[in-house]
Amino acid sequence: MDVQDKIKKIEEQIEDTVKDIKTSKTLQEMKMRFLGKTGEISALLKNMRDVPPEQRPAMGKLLNALRQWTEEKFDSIESRLKELELKKRYSEEKIDVTMPAEISDDGAYHPNTLIRNELISIFSGMGFEIFEGPEIENDYYNFTALNTPKDHPARDMQDTFYLAEDLLLRTQTSAGQIRVMENKKPPIKILSPGKVYRSDDDATHSPMFSQMEGLVVDKGITLCDLKGMLDEFAKKIFGGGVKTRLRPSYFPFTEPSVEVDVSCFECGGNGCRLCKGTGWIEVLGAGMVNRRVLEGCGIDPDEYTGFAFGMGIERIAMLKYGINNMKLLFEGDTRFLKQFKD
Ligand code: PHE
Repeated sequence: MDVQDKIKKIEEQIEDTVKDIKTSKTLQEMKMRFLGKTGEISALLKNMRDVPPEQRPAMGKLLNALRQWTEEKFDSIESRLKELELKKRYSEEKIDVTMPAEISDDGAYHPNTLIRNELISIFSGMGFEIFEGPEIENDYYNFTALNTPKDHPARDMQDTFYLAEDLLLRTQTSAGQIRVMENKKPPIKILSPGKVYRSDDDATHSPMFSQMEGLVVDKGITLCDLKGMLDEFAKKIFGGGVKTRLRPSYFPFTEPSVEVDVSCFECGGNGCRLCKGTGWIEVLGAGMVNRRVLEGCGIDPDEYTGFAFGMGIERIAMLKYGINNMKLLFEGDTRFLKQFKD
């Protein structure tokens, strides 16, 4: 086949393929096939060596014309494709401004988060540092080191989820007290927020809830320091007129142990539904750190004393915001949560 025939054949092939080019991808493929370095037109150009010298100028002209013709063909297809693609994008991205708007609910801080942040701000103002312990805890930290060995009846106070013989979901952030005292010498002043777990489930209990733990250890710390600090805390969180009182209680890791009540901020202490007619509301457990706990952490109880307290964050939130069912705090219903937008 002579060169002219070959040129003709390529022209026909191009005319043929061009009809089917619908995407930029096939366009690129065809460009490579005909105009690429190893493409069909380049192959013809390479063959020029075999053409007798007197025919070369004429042949060269023909081939150059072919290449130019091919390039123009592809260029025009390319601009047509681009235009089509742009049109498609425009129609896809078209916005109908007369359509009704999609309403999306605004977020708001969860009551737990509000209370936790408020507590952190109150106590960090008093010089407390934050410590966060693990939620999966050793039996030792959650119980034994807190003066609650395996056969201690006080273990019954908390229905525990055990993961293995000595591994459990912590039932109290008090476990963090031990982790702190093992690693830090007094003075210690830490605040420890976190989730805790107990097999308990009703309107005021949930198998997972949150606590805020406080621990202060130093020389000369007394129950008076605990009372003074809690008084301050209660006024800040429930209002300036609120009073606190301590009632004797029992926790293995504190001695003496107390339950802390605040005067009812709803009725001012006269008795109402919130305080069940008593005028007082129980808000937390606390006490002086038991000397056996200090000793176990290598702290000399004759030199140092301390107090600890622990409160349920959900409970504080329910009291402060008048929430009567704890489940509302776990459902994530935006109609409920929206009410806490400031
Ligand atoms: N850990 C106790 C509880 O969960 C609360 C507490 C903390 C009591 C610190 C005394 C001191 O019930």
